[in-house]
Amino acid sequence: MSDRVIIFDTTLRDGEQALAASLTVKEKLQIAFALERLGVDVMEVGFPISSPGDFESVQTIARNIKNSRVCALSRALQADIDAAAQALSVAEQFRIHTFISTSTIHVESKLKRSFDQVLEMAVSAVKYARQFTDDVEFSCEDAGRTPIDNLCRMVEQAIKAGAKTINIPDTVGYTVPSEFGGIIQTLFNRVPNIDQAVISVHCHDDLGLSVANSITAVQHGARQIECTVNGIGERAGNCSLEEIAMILATRKNLVGLHSHINAKEIHRTSTLVSQLCNMPVQANKAIVGANAFTHSSGIHQDGVLKSQNTYEIMMPESIGLNRNNLNMTSRSGRHVIKHRMQELGYSEQDYDMDTLYEQFLTLADKKGQVFDYDLEALAFMEAQAADDDFYQLDQIKVNSDTKQGLANASIAITLDGEVKQAEAQGNGPVDAVYKAIASASGQEVDIVSYQLSAKGHGQNALGQVDIMANYQQHHFHGVGLATDVVEASAKALVHVMNLIKRADVVADCKLKIQQQRELGGV
Ligand code: KIV
Ligand code: ZN
Repeated sequence: MSDRVIIFDTTLRDGEQALAASLTVKEKLQIAFALERLGVDVMEVGFPISSPGDFESVQTIARNIKNSRVCALSRALQADIDAAAQALSVAEQFRIHTFISTSTIHVESKLKRSFDQVLEMAVSAVKYARQFTDDVEFSCEDAGRTPIDNLCRMVEQAIKAGAKTINIPDTVGYTVPSEFGGIIQTLFNRVPNIDQAVISVHCHDDLGLSVANSITAVQHGARQIECTVNGIGERAGNCSLEEIAMILATRKNLVGLHSHINAKEIHRTSTLVSQLCNMPVQANKAIVGANAFTHSSGIHQDGVLKSQNTYEIMMPESIGLNRNNLNMTSRSGRHVIKHRMQELGYSEQDYDMDTLYEQFLTLADKKGQVFDYDLEALAFMEAQAADDDFYQLDQIKVNSDTKQGLANASIAITLDGEVKQAEAQGNGPVDAVYKAIASASGQEVDIVSYQLSAKGHGQNALGQVDIMANYQQHHFHGVGLATDVVEASAKALVHVMNLIKRADVVADCKLKIQQQRELGGV
């Protein structure tokens, strides 16, 4: 048996389905490229039958990703498998992942069928999916709570039907390591054709055991782990990719297995996923939390100064967290910025050097010193504001009187090339600016949440505003970043307005195509 663990990333499927606002196709593609650089073997990127948007993003990713196998999810139904195959068919090679529940509670209460009927559906689905690709994965949903005899029967029949990977999910994060390891061991002992498939595990973190369960599973013969960046996913999340990668690397002598993850990409992939998904990483999170490599107590600090390995079992550099010893100010030349971006793990194809340097100088003039986070934010978040955006924010002027509790704002905003101006009064500067933008654009946005956070350190931090807006029963996530929090708030609103505008344009096009089709025109 190979000593390589296949890393199956499901950030863009299981992770994405748990977000308050869906990612745009562009954001998903950005994450897919980061996952490819990270070296994931397989990336599951959506559930194409679930929505036209999901179909489009799976197709776009399948067209662009070359070094990881792209996979899409389907229930054990022909229509789902057709949609997955159609979305993936633009890739040279792809994987179809089909699943059905196998636990008694799911079979009886959710599917309202007998176990034998479910077994038949699973076998037909795997055979059907095999018509499109040799690479078919089958999952026994809620395997962790499935009676072991039924699980063995299901696994044997799915392999016989042609599944090359059999996934054993602990869907509700219920099992403990000895128990989950025992399930995997029993499958190896009792399923006669088990050697014809790769056994995979997919553990949720409801009891905080997803990583421990996954590691125990590979110690009992599983060779694929399904996981997500930062552990995002349904409820308490999925098994965290970075923890698995670093356990395999750091405890190689004990576990005796390895993955093909390029650990130096971990830090920046984590930052990107956290940022785009609007899912902050807790400071004490293993591997990627802000404090993961920070020593607080005097005794610990004294220890690491004497010898780093007194309190550090991994080097921050191993996950791509490079300490900076260059001061980045308005006197820094382009080569310094390029060099630092390189140290942070970005190549010049990832960003536009001219725009970045211009924005860097503007920021350095305002802040004095520019930090890594600022650079990443300028390169990737400011890039979210595109030249072809329908709404562009031109100017904001605010006057605020705390005694009266009133603020006045005047703004200028460009709508499809035409400059509009408006003034408004509000109960604070952000309120006044939001009212002025609504008046100038004629667009009211239903904001369901507003979050202000500091990015960077101390007085030099940038203000980041994340807002969630509701439009036609969909949530849209807007981000704004600036040294001035009122400007950051305005940018977040304009970002969300552009997302809504784009969604409307796409919906309009689809409607027109549909109408033409109905009239026989296309
Ligand atoms: O948690 C789960 O069981 C799943 C399956 C679809 C694999 O996400
Ligand atoms: Zn799951």
